[in-house]
Amino acid sequence: MPVSTLTWQNGKIKMIDQTRLPAELAYLEINQIEVLGEAIKSLRVRGAPALGIAGAFGALLSAQLFHGEDKTAFFAQLERDMKYLRETRPTAVNLGWALNRMREVMQKFHEQSLPEIKAALQKEALSIFEEDRHSSRALAEHGAALVPQSATVITHCNTGALVTADYGTALGVLFAAYAHGKKLHVFVDETRPLLQGARLNMWELMNEGIDCTLICDNTAAFVMQRQHVDFCIVGADRIAANGDTANKIGTYSLAVNARQHGVPFYVAAPISTIDFSIRTGKEIPIEERSAEEVTNGFGRRTAPEGARVYSPAFDVTPHEFIAAIITEAGVIRPPFEKNLKTIQPECR
Ligand code: MRU
Repeated sequence: MPVSTLTWQNGKIKMIDQTRLPAELAYLEINQIEVLGEAIKSLRVRGAPALGIAGAFGALLSAQLFHGEDKTAFFAQLERDMKYLRETRPTAVNLGWALNRMREVMQKFHEQSLPEIKAALQKEALSIFEEDRHSSRALAEHGAALVPQSATVITHCNTGALVTADYGTALGVLFAAYAHGKKLHVFVDETRPLLQGARLNMWELMNEGIDCTLICDNTAAFVMQRQHVDFCIVGADRIAANGDTANKIGTYSLAVNARQHGVPFYVAAPISTIDFSIRTGKEIPIEERSAEEVTNGFGRRTAPEGARVYSPAFDVTPHEFIAAIITEAGVIRPPFEKNLKTIQPECR
């Protein structure tokens, strides 16, 4: 059974505090918007689909926390809280996508009573959660069909049950392949600077009993040079209409190395991660993180005081490096500009 990364329970958001893993599986119960904002900014909850669900639950929390009768004040509070949450992390499109869905419901029910509006918002937030559960399973099954009976794989960042309402994205594909009896050996990039691969992917893969080996990010090319790797697979934080893909920093160098060694490079993501409003990856906003995450990541200084740091949290892999994008609607192959349109929600 995958872990339940975040749920709506008794008017509160219950989530795993991912910063405490793998040492401790601890849960947080959140009933204040600022506490949710802090949890998102500090990566207690993280990963694109989970950020979408957190945004939807955040809008619902904002609505539930309003106790007056004044509808104008209610809408003002909701707008203010949704703006605050939207700005917590700019790259993963799922956060803004889910908040847009919540706003559309708010607008549609504008003339109704406050209890009716709150009920409609609750229904929408829970549907966003349920849809993600279904898409994560469907995506995993489509991806599993690409996995050979025995496969050596490299993956980057954390992409399992911790990042979706159910199975995960890239790791979900591997979980499904393993459940179908396929033999896997997964090389796990540690994913500097915050070690989502070492701390979270290793934890999830080892819990499932999947054979896995932790490597430093800069070891991946050597692994591909020295042994047969069947494919690389990663998740995504935002995919442009032409297939350019933003994902955790280090993904682009893995893709370049994969191409050099003739290893297929797969991206696994739900359709909610595709931003059809932007043409190419150049338009994707890239979050920059604090210097301390690089110089003093886990409590110990590893660079001189005052060292200048550049720490983009994501990079963009050009679509030419990607062999397939695995979604809940099926496996999309190049040319992505044309083929992604076939799964665009408005065109289906
Ligand atoms: O900064 P993070 O940990 O939120 O970054 C997460 C990733 O880059 C994941 O690979 C991405 O969200 C895809 S998995 C859903």
